[in-house]
Amino acid sequence: MKTTSCLIWDLPTRIFHWLLAGGFTAAAAIAFLSDEKSGLFPWHAILGLVLGCMVLLRLAWGFIGSRHARFTSFLFGPRSLLDYLKGALQGGGERHIGHNPGSAYAIFAMLGLMLGIAGTGLLLARGHKAFKEPHELMVYALLAVVAAHLAGVILHTLRHRENITLSMIHGRKDCDPSQAIDSTRPVSTILFLVLLGAWAFSLVGNYHPTSKTTQLPWLGISLHLGENGQEGKNSHH
Ligand code: HEM
Ligand code: HEM
Repeated sequence: MKTTSCLIWDLPTRIFHWLLAGGFTAAAAIAFLSDEKSGLFPWHAILGLVLGCMVLLRLAWGFIGSRHARFTSFLFGPRSLLDYLKGALQGGGERHIGHNPGSAYAIFAMLGLMLGIAGTGLLLARGHKAFKEPHELMVYALLAVVAAHLAGVILHTLRHRENITLSMIHGRKDCDPSQAIDSTRPVSTILFLVLLGAWAFSLVGNYHPTSKTTQLPWLGISLHLGENGQEGKNSHH
């Protein structure tokens, strides 16, 4: 098979990936390391709301995006997953240019959990305290899937001597030209950034640090993003 360096990941997918990875890490760090009554804590929720919106846009992109970003290109049955994992353990296995069955399952889990975290977070911020435990449990579950994701990336990188992390940055892999996509999708990238930026600016613009409240853009639903009280007073748990 003739191989050259060709474009695999469009720009919206790559930007989505790194904003999700950085945003989730930052939100989790703030939520775990800051006190619920501190002025920093609500920022984990604002970040989480931006990520939730971003995952919704990624879901749309899963239908209208370019070839390897579409969900139909990485929908695998349980059989393919088992075959893939067996191959990975035995050191053989077929090469996948887009997402392989292992990463595909992790990706659907990460997208679903991120939506679940944002959804329960929204309910918490509307005063439904019963969602605290599900909210935290899904955060732990997502941390576990991320650990598996990173283990998979490291294993693949070492075993196939292929820097797939770099591919998620520049979008390219060595492949048969018939598998390449023909555009980075600049227009959709701009639309993606404008929508997400408007959502984020609105959340931040409507945020009042004294009451720890903001409003959901366009929907006008008000949210309470942390407990009021003295800064740093350690009274949770
Ligand atoms: C330094 C840390 C990370 C590295 C090096 C990394 C690397 C990668 C790579 C190489 C892929 C493509 C996998 C494939 O070929 O199938 C990928 C996909 C993905 N990763 Fe990560 N990842 C990191 C952190 C994260 C984190 C923290 C999250 C979630 C919170 C995450 C979520 C995803 C998702 C959702 C995809 C699918 C992308 C899409 O098609 O939209 N990653 N990652
Ligand atoms: C990546 C996204 C998120 C992560 C990693 C995350 C993580 C967490 C964690 C670990 C806690 C427990 C903190 C503790 O017990 O000290 C928590 C609580 C909370 N989260 Fe999130 N969260 C996320 C998104 C959101 C969103 C989108 C909202 C709201 C819109 C939200 C609202 C809240 C609220 C209000 C609490 C306090 C619950 C209470 O004690 O009453 N979170 N979050």
